[in-house]
Amino acid sequence: MLQLDNLSVCFGGLTAVNSVSLKVESQDVLGLVGANGAGKTTLFNAISGLVRPTSGKISFNGVDLMRAPMYQRARSGIGRTFQIPQPMHELSVRENLIVAQRFATGRVDQHKIDEILDFTSLSDKASRQAASELALTELKALEVAKALATNPRLLLLDEVLAGLETNGKRRFMQMLKQLHQSFAVGIIIIEHDIETICNLCQRVAVLNFGQLIADGTPDAVFNDPAVIKSYTGN
Ligand SMILES: Nc1ncnc2c1ncn2[C@@H]1O[C@H](COP(=O)(O)OP(=O)(O)O)[C@@H](O)[C@H]1O
Ligand SMILES: [Mg+2]
Repeated sequence: MLQLDNLSVCFGGLTAVNSVSLKVESQDVLGLVGANGAGKTTLFNAISGLVRPTSGKISFNGVDLMRAPMYQRARSGIGRTFQIPQPMHELSVRENLIVAQRFATGRVDQHKIDEILDFTSLSDKASRQAASELALTELKALEVAKALATNPRLLLLDEVLAGLETNGKRRFMQMLKQLHQSFAVGIIIIEHDIETICNLCQRVAVLNFGQLIADGTPDAVFNDPAVIKSYTGN
């Protein structure tokens, strides 16, 4: 589905993503890990069209997306969340979903929106103002709901579990597990907590200073000396 070939992103003299090659299929739930500043979010930005890669190739279902604008990537089925929730504050929860859905699909399907609100446990919050009247767990759920409203085939989740307390996190993880099945989407999730990754993902990829240093089962990857070294710095 998604194929990256030698993808690089440079900011001035800094190579944030360094020649990354990766294939992700619709049945994958891939954990993307690495230290702060490793290039994880920049990789998502390059895939979703927010930053322009310096070199390499991005294709999705066989279509070259290197020069495609953001809406075209969304319309071809790439959905994402942001590390810091970015709702439109002056709009209600439901209106946020409508805007996201129209951006990515060109139409509004209220039935689908109801289904997403229900799935993300936001139904009774639908008329609430985004951000100002939502708790952190709900804001994170809204990020996921907005991404789902774009009708994705591949979902890029950037630290959606970060900052949640234990119970909220447990419920959120159940939702993510079902999401893969219920919406038939492939998932790449950026997450720091190794236990969470092992619980959610059959596959893990590790970025270290912009380079992909491992890609495999959680068991193989977290026992890889190069990965352990990148984590402990020795
Ligand atoms: N828009 C930008 N302009 C300049 N440097 C950036 C920009 N975005 C990210 N960086 C730098 O690129 C590197 C990777 O950042 P990022 O992708 O956010 O890492 P991660 O998500 O893995 O923590 C960092 O050194 C960061 O400071
Ligand atoms: Mg990040």
